[in-house]
Amino acid sequence: MTTKFRTLADQLPTPVSLPTLREQIEDAINELISSLPEPARMSAEGRRGIIARYTAVLEGNFIYWMTATYLSVRSLEAHKIIEDNLREEVRDNHPGMLRRFAVAAHASPTDADRHVIDRHLQDVRMFVARLRSLQIIPMMAFFEGFIQRFMPYLANLAAMQGSTEMEYTDVHGVVDIAHTQGLLEAFAAETELTEHPMPLRVLEGVEVLRNLIAIVIFPNGALQRSGVA
Ligand SMILES: [Fe+2]
Repeated sequence: MTTKFRTLADQLPTPVSLPTLREQIEDAINELISSLPEPARMSAEGRRGIIARYTAVLEGNFIYWMTATYLSVRSLEAHKIIEDNLREEVRDNHPGMLRRFAVAAHASPTDADRHVIDRHLQDVRMFVARLRSLQIIPMMAFFEGFIQRFMPYLANLAAMQGSTEMEYTDVHGVVDIAHTQGLLEAFAAETELTEHPMPLRVLEGVEVLRNLIAIVIFPNGALQRSGVA
């Protein structure tokens, strides 16, 4: 199956307004969510694979990327918002929660699962390494928003694999709504420190991360640019 995802806007009108940014991020999330294959029509291995690849992306990288976001920002307000987010991740041991979720669904990532996502995962890491706050904050707002919307689907996959361990999906179906809003406020705080319009693609990180999530969902390759023959 080939699924096409559109190319995100090269440049948003500057100064970038929060409603416009929020709309672009929500559109990208909606596009992914509406593409999700029907669990009942998938094989057990197909369902296991999505849980495993999601776990391979999230378990070891979410806090790392949120930490990079913290390092990239300059404003006190953005630091405070992202620190609160990080503290909750660490204090409540979200990686441990996800690990329990994957193990209970018999979907611990294998070497083969990691191989499938590797190129796109490295692309996100290279992007994050640039530490550009006005690009990395939208990426993380997209990540939080996607995670929250994805939780019922992920829980359904796990239930169909025989699991009843749902703490991870229960917790993340709720808290990340506030996190997405907080990150947008952090973006606004960072924008105020920028005196000139930034000649950069604000949605570049969203697109790089979207391409990684697309591989989590479609391991055989999603065609990521619509309009391409
Ligand atoms: Fe989390």
